[in-house]
Amino acid sequence: MSGLDDVIAADTSLSEVDGLNGRLVICGRTLDDLAGRVSYEELLELLLSGLLDQPAEHIRAALGAARVRAFAELAHLDDGLLALSITGGLRALMARLPDDETAETALLLAAAPAVFVPALVRRKAGRSAIAPLAAYGYAEDMLAMLTGMAPTRAATLALDTYLVTVSDHGLNASTFAARVVASTRAGYASAVLAALGALKGPLHGGAPGPVLDMLDSVGTPDDAGRWLTAELAGGRRLMGFGHRIYRVRDPRADALKAALRRLGDAGGLDAERLALAEAVEREALALLRQKKPDRPLETNVEFFTALLLEALGFPRDAFTGVFAAGRIGGWLAHAHEQIANGRLIRPQSRYVGPKAA
Ligand code: ACO
Repeated sequence: MSGLDDVIAADTSLSEVDGLNGRLVICGRTLDDLAGRVSYEELLELLLSGLLDQPAEHIRAALGAARVRAFAELAHLDDGLLALSITGGLRALMARLPDDETAETALLLAAAPAVFVPALVRRKAGRSAIAPLAAYGYAEDMLAMLTGMAPTRAATLALDTYLVTVSDHGLNASTFAARVVASTRAGYASAVLAALGALKGPLHGGAPGPVLDMLDSVGTPDDAGRWLTAELAGGRRLMGFGHRIYRVRDPRADALKAALRRLGDAGGLDAERLALAEAVEREALALLRQKKPDRPLETNVEFFTALLLEALGFPRDAFTGVFAAGRIGGWLAHAHEQIANGRLIRPQSRYVGPKAA
């Protein structure tokens, strides 16, 4: 009851999560048909078709121009903002953007994390931010702004695959938060900021950093079983496993594992790291099956997200911000859908407190 597990709170034509069969459909296409096959701009064309009504090449150019506009906001990136976490800094910079319900604002919001996250990473490390190149694609430019170099095709494909894979996922906590705020007609920026707050929690989009902490603590493949057993015995959860909806493997985990393998084939991945992760996954699944034989706990999207984003050069405190860059497409699409079709979201609570005299 308290997790609203079986409550249907919206009709949507954006995505369908089939938890029993491990299938994700976004705008009528399966994840298998999208991940690694379309760019993030093409995915945004699908998700935001009602809002933007422009073909992908126009969206690509408009997002490029919006990244240049977002870069100008970095003039406000002072020491106070740099003292925040990367997610905190992203939230503060996003809060400076216009807050209305126009397509122009939606594009600016969608472009902003691609600029702000790399800039925050670099500035927090004492380096200068790198200006966007409007002619680049979203993923390519995000990587270029992170590293200062033109990314390889393999790296760009891997980030595109990631952004597409996480772009929308039914009524997850952050998307629900976006829809609630959009339903008040507060504006797209307010909806996205609420979503970002929800995303940052470790039970949602804050898990991939802790996945790497777990791999570091495990150390070697041979130590995986012993370390994970001790974690479970201590009553702690294994990060990157379990899901509210999926009762089988999260299809996004497979899409990202395939992207990792492709990156590995192109020489962009540390083979030892992948071997350690695969050992941890194997042991964790076996232990979780023993611990909860009646509650399937499988690998979720965050497990391979951690490895992929690490291989692409993002530090672990930036992972939630990169997740936001992908999920912002879904947030904006849901906000638009809520505004177009929905009413003010205002559920009821049941009073269980003391009776008044
Ligand atoms: N490790 C160990 N035990 C677990 C795990 C886990 N990762 N996940 C669930 N369980 C156990 C719970 O302790 C609980 O046991 P209990 O009944 O003895 O108390 C049982 O399985 C059911 O757990 P719930 O909390 O009911 O599962 P819920 O659907 O609420 O949680 C969640 C889903 C939050 C993802 C959970 O599996 C979890 O905490 N996973 C680890 C964090 C994580 O990977 N988060 C990323 C999620 S993906 C995303 O949001 C993008």
